[in-house]
Amino acid sequence: MSQIFTIANQKGGVGKTTTSVNLAASLAHSGKRVLLVDMDPQGNATMGVGVEKNSLEHSVYEVIMGETPVEEAVRPVESSGFDILPANRNLTAAEVELINLPGKETRLRHALLRVASRYDFIIIDCPPSLSMLTVNSLVACHGVIIPMQCEYYALEGLSDLVATIQRIGKLLNPSLRIEGILRTMYDPRSSLTNEVNAQLHKYFGNKVYRIAIPRNIRLAEAPSYGQPVLVYDRQSKGAIAYLGLAGEVIRRSKEHQVAELQGTGN
Ligand SMILES: Nc1ncnc2c1ncn2[C@@H]1O[C@H](COP(=O)(O)OP(=O)(O)O)[C@@H](O)[C@H]1O
Ligand SMILES: [Mg+2]
Repeated sequence: MSQIFTIANQKGGVGKTTTSVNLAASLAHSGKRVLLVDMDPQGNATMGVGVEKNSLEHSVYEVIMGETPVEEAVRPVESSGFDILPANRNLTAAEVELINLPGKETRLRHALLRVASRYDFIIIDCPPSLSMLTVNSLVACHGVIIPMQCEYYALEGLSDLVATIQRIGKLLNPSLRIEGILRTMYDPRSSLTNEVNAQLHKYFGNKVYRIAIPRNIRLAEAPSYGQPVLVYDRQSKGAIAYLGLAGEVIRRSKEHQVAELQGTGN
């Protein structure tokens, strides 16, 4: 059964897109069948894997609006062995147009259900807001991965995100869980990092991934070549860290599956 994870944090610049692209590439490198879904009208994930966002024939926008079957909009990322459902700025219009449509929060979920059996993992990149696009992503997934920069204001706004996750869990997606907290642009030498670290572990316990993603220039350079870092520089610290994250994600998903099996067995 496929595992669907949304990468969300309403703050911009915390590493959502970097994590989406490189986690997708690292899971594919580990032999998993992966779909990356770009739900941000900025189309950064789309560009980041080398797909020209301005000349898309089909995108996630048409899929959500019910104009194009998801199968037609999905395309392969040749360099990396996974698929992408791309986005561009057309998606901005969906925010407004969705409001008048039936099932406005469940559109992405229904689209992904049609292709879920083809994939082991589906990774959804979110825009920096708690908008209808993010709500669609949270309704469509099993778990939320929250990337966080360990800086002074890191925890600010986190309670809004957690409250949104809880509300959607109650109303629209009862099995929704916080899958993990990922520390990004990590600098262990900063004393602030240690403080934020301690708080994250206090609130989220073992949901905090053991791997932290270091600040690494290769991760910032790779998107301008339209490549995941594994293709751009597979020896880099960033590439190795995201491979480590993929390992942890796979391990946790096996634990969930065992727990679910035991749950149904009892
Ligand atoms: N671990 C990292 N090391 C160095 N630069 C990073 C790292 N993670 C992200 N960046 C850079 O920081 C900026 C914001 O990251 P991005 O993934 O686009 O964040 P978001 O999607 O949350 O807005 C981008 O320029 C990206 O290349
Ligand atoms: Mg982004």
